[in-house]
Amino acid sequence: MDPVPIWLMRQAGRYLPEYRALREEAGDFLTCANTPEIATEITLQPIRRFAFDAAIVFSDILIIPDAMGRNLRFAEGEGPLLDPLEGAGDVASLDPECVVPGNQPLMDTLGRVRAALDPDTALIGFAGAPFTLAAYMIDGRGGGDFPRTRDLMRDDPDLLDRLLDVLSRSVAALLIGEIDAGAQAVQLFDSWAGLLNGFAFDRWSIGPARQIVAEVHAARPGIPFIGFPRGAGDAYARYRAETGIDVLQIDQGVSLPAMADLQRGGPIQGNLDPELLLAGGDALRAGARAILDAAGEGPHVFNLGHGVIKETPPDHVAELVATVRGHHREMPS
Ligand code: CP3
Repeated sequence: MDPVPIWLMRQAGRYLPEYRALREEAGDFLTCANTPEIATEITLQPIRRFAFDAAIVFSDILIIPDAMGRNLRFAEGEGPLLDPLEGAGDVASLDPECVVPGNQPLMDTLGRVRAALDPDTALIGFAGAPFTLAAYMIDGRGGGDFPRTRDLMRDDPDLLDRLLDVLSRSVAALLIGEIDAGAQAVQLFDSWAGLLNGFAFDRWSIGPARQIVAEVHAARPGIPFIGFPRGAGDAYARYRAETGIDVLQIDQGVSLPAMADLQRGGPIQGNLDPELLLAGGDALRAGARAILDAAGEGPHVFNLGHGVIKETPPDHVAELVATVRGHHREMPS
């Protein structure tokens, strides 16, 4: 059987010396992401080096709130910052219609990358999921605890519903625009879905994803939809079954038996610990082989459980690709 396809979340970026060199010359992250010539070059850098089976367009999930006027910027050592949403008035003023017109450079980049790629290399578009976008928009920053978002979940859950509804429409429109511009698959990143338990996960991660998947599938049938509710734990199976996604991306917290179990419900993508890629050597090879053995001959796209860590030596990535490509899958008996 053919080897398992492989690409890596954050495969373009700071661990690559050619990315750092281009940034040095061209300026800050947002300038690079919003300049099609530069974003195209950055998207292609890891493909040239490692011949991954897919390219993911160089952009960011926070371009949606930025297009809505929330003033995205990156402060050195602080990560992304946005103007925090203040109450119902700010939520009511958000316009989903400006998301596609406000992101023409991304669409231009997708067309350029598609034209430059070998026909056998897939091009993946993406968006942030509504809950994860809302958390950055409400708190105005990342960091992982999102205290203002937690307050809103308790104090005014209906307002959060309204915000997620606007964002769901925005995300669906952006993904459809990306497909029309050249994306052949799309991935939804719900990076902070792990903050939601029980009913809250159903309401604020599954609900919006179900609406987006239905809209994208209806508008552009046949485009694979990859869902990533990071940290969902026991709820991954429910997320797959109830959202209608085609491929489930799982984080490194999912054990090998649990991964094999999830694979019985459909294709999986993941889930090597990015720390093993950073470590390299025997630990990396053994970790990758254990995943390949556990996923067996079932439908699997090899990936990490989260993005490449910026200190990762590029040689380790080459070693991982060789390990995955050299692994012989069992023929079904
Ligand atoms: O995967 C890829 O190669 C495609 C590009 C991509 C970026 N961001 C580029 C980027 C993707 C898919 C993302 C998604 C993204 N952005 C997520 C979801 C995935 C995840 O990590 O959970 C989130 C939460 C964001 C928001 C965001 N943007 C953060 C937390 C940061 C890091 C800030 C920092 O200083 O480390 C960014 C900036 C960002 N987005 C960088 C890159 C390459 C780093 C900027 C730089 O190079 O200086």
